[in-house]
Order: sequence, then structure tokens, then C-alpha cells
Amino acid sequence: ADDSGVQTHPDDLKTFKLIAHRGASGHAPEHTWAAYDKAREMGADYLELDLHMSADGEIIVIHDDSLDRTTNGEGRVQEHNLEQLKALDAGSWFNEKYPDRADETYVGAKLLTLDEVIGRYGKEVRYYIETKSPQRYPELQRELVETLDEAGLIESGSVVIQSFSQASLQEIRGLNADIPLVQLLWYSPREEGGLKEWNDTTPAPEDMTDADFKKIASYAIGVGPNVIYRGNEVIDQRFIEQAHNNGLIVHSYTINEPEQMQRLIGWGVDGMFTDFPDRLRAMVD
Ligand code: G3P
Ligand code: CA
Repeated sequence: ADDSGVQTHPDDLKTFKLIAHRGASGHAPEHTWAAYDKAREMGADYLELDLHMSADGEIIVIHDDSLDRTTNGEGRVQEHNLEQLKALDAGSWFNEKYPDRADETYVGAKLLTLDEVIGRYGKEVRYYIETKSPQRYPELQRELVETLDEAGLIESGSVVIQSFSQASLQEIRGLNADIPLVQLLWYSPREEGGLKEWNDTTPAPEDMTDADFKKIASYAIGVGPNVIYRGNEVIDQRFIEQAHNNGLIVHSYTINEPEQMQRLIGWGVDGMFTDFPDRLRAMVD
């Protein structure tokens, strides 16, 4: 942060960034070694990690708060200890859901801890880490920042932290003002009842004022909006330009179709989350 307290942009984040959403999760079971290794091979700039916590306080890399979708277990992540979580198969579901992309090496893939992921890749990759359910895990922010700091990943500029929760980002900022933060935004059409998860006063994308963007720029370097809601685009080029004009970069999620990647690049987006890093790499290169 600079003297005024405004988050500054590390120079590195000014160039386009390819963020592998849950790893190369279009090709391999999300948040497993296979997905992360493939993302690296495919030239991702960042590996995306979603975090929850086990009953015994380990930071676990998994998207859902429940085990049901991506493992052979059931119930909440936080109701299981690390040993129980490590006994689960986090790969077979992918083969069943996507038989055309199935690979027998995915069977028996393990859930991973944050320590394991940063232990394996160190400073060779960068990490785009999302804090989920901070209300459910009040200690997550502090433990995360301590872990990253001890690994030297904050100093090396290897980390971005993202969240839908403004409170989580603010807490992280209070713990360490040198971590680039991205405010995630969820836009769905007004008639379907509400626009966001993160803040009761967030307006629709077309109603975002300079003041709304500036408020986010007071603690974050950028915004991460969804682009598609039920097949319809919910942000446009004007949204990206307005964010830029207010000092924010824009990393949009989750973009898997080449046509859409191309359009967003044309609009000047600063990076994208994708399940298919190979498709975006081919386009960017
Ligand atoms: O973090 C960007 C995007 O991943 C947010 O949505 O639900 O995939 O974590 P989700
Ligand atoms: Ca995420």
C-alpha cells in the first residue's frame, strides 16, 4: 500500500494474467495435483485455490463447503479432520462426470492442504487464493497470511488474494498491506432477485458509479466479476473501462469459450480465470 493507504499495483500485475481456475479443472479433477500440474504445463500464470478448513484446523484446498460433489465422502469439510479428508477419493467423480476426459490416474486423487501445494511448487508458480466462508472460519485469514509470509510468498510477489467477502479482504489488509487483493463480484439479473453475495449495497454492473469503484480501489487492486449468467453477458466493455478509469484491474471469471476469451481481450480485460488454460494460452500467445 502507498502512503495514502491505497493499494498499489505491483508492476507485474499490469500485464495480462492467465489464471487456472481450480487448476486446469476442465481437463482433470479440480484442486488435485493432476489439475495443478496440467495448469503449469499449459502455461498458467496463476493457480487458483479455494480454501476451507478441516475440523482440526488445517487449510484445505477445495471449492465447495461440502464433500459431496468432488469426493466420495459426504457432509461438510469442517466436520472432518485431516486424516478423514485424506482418506477420500477426490478424482473418481471427474471420470464419472466426464467420461470423454477420464483418466484412470485420477482415481484415488487426494484432497490437498495449502501447505502441500505451496510446498510442492514454492516460488515456481503464483497463487490466486480465494477465502471462502470467512464467517465460518474466523481464524482463516490470520493463518493464511502467516503461512504465506513464512513461505516468503508475499515478499516474492507470488500471491493474490481474492474474496467475495469485503470483510475478509479488509482483515487480510490489516494483517499485511502488501498482498494484492481482488474483490470478487457476482452479478445476476435484477429480476431474478438480487445481484451479489458480498455486500448488500452493491449495485448492478450498469449502475456502478465511479464512487463505487473508488471504494473498492481503497483496499483492492482489482475486481473479479462473473461475465456470464445463464448464458447472458452481464458486464460489458464500459464496465471494464470504468474500472480502469478508477484504478482497478479486471480479472473476469470463468471464461472457457474461445469466442468469449477473444471478446474480453478486445475489451481490455487484464486477466481471466479459465478451466482450460491451454485454450487461453493459445489465444494470448
Ligand atoms: O474466484 C473466481 C471464481 O472462482 C469465483 O467463483 O465459485 O468458482 O469460486 P467460484
Ligand atoms: Ca474461486
